[in-house]
Amino acid sequence: MNSAVELATAAAEIIREKSGVEQHEIALVLGSGWAKAADLVGQTVATISAADLPGFHAPEVPGHVSTIRSIKLESGKYALALGARTHLYEGRGVAAVVHGVRTAAAAGAKTLVLTNGAGGINSAWKPGTPVLISDHINLTGQTPLEGAHFVDMSEVYSKRLRELAREIDSNLDEGIYCQFRGPQYETPAEVQMAKAIGGDIVGMSTALEAIAARSVGLEILGLSLITNLAAGISTSPLSHDEVLQAGRDAESRISELLSTIINRI
Ligand code: HPA
Repeated sequence: MNSAVELATAAAEIIREKSGVEQHEIALVLGSGWAKAADLVGQTVATISAADLPGFHAPEVPGHVSTIRSIKLESGKYALALGARTHLYEGRGVAAVVHGVRTAAAAGAKTLVLTNGAGGINSAWKPGTPVLISDHINLTGQTPLEGAHFVDMSEVYSKRLRELAREIDSNLDEGIYCQFRGPQYETPAEVQMAKAIGGDIVGMSTALEAIAARSVGLEILGLSLITNLAAGISTSPLSHDEVLQAGRDAESRISELLSTIINRI
């Protein structure tokens, strides 16, 4: 076992001990605006502080939470809600960024729901609009994978799960997510580049996590909450407070949607 997998296995073992749950079949990474879904999706059986798990770090960003919850769904299956996301811009390296995903896989997850708050390039998407991620472009120049490990990336975000989500909300649009490293927001020129290469959504998470998840065979559902129009698409400057406010405004609505989707997976 390599050391990243060992660390994830150790964290998953503690999750098993503290929750008493042998297998968490579904893992949820809840980004800005999505945290309430953890309250709605089922009954929380254990709440574990990120600080008690090897390899996890308290998030630096105000508005991000740092707990891991074991949740019993109506179906009787268990979900693991990861509130403690590490971003590449925190400077802890790419292994730290994907540690939560690797831990979820070690805890038995087969399905991974990745959510985030992000900027929209398509001006028809008003702040507060949830959008399905159909594919991504990784602009970080990094990958969590090392060695001759050639992972198929032709359907990172499961078509089956996107269709399932649309059965619940037929208005859900979809788009291609471009991950930038951050922490600075993009320039208008960078947003235009993202648009020119096929991007619809800009953000600072998700693609690296999705790569790690596909490398171990997880089926992924990706959802972005458009918290703002990307730089230059709207004339107003971007602010983190506005991003958080858009998340809070949309939170109840999108969390309910996500909870319904998860209970149908
Ligand atoms: N760009 C990158 N990340 C983001 C944005 C954005 O416009 N909004 C929320 N997260």
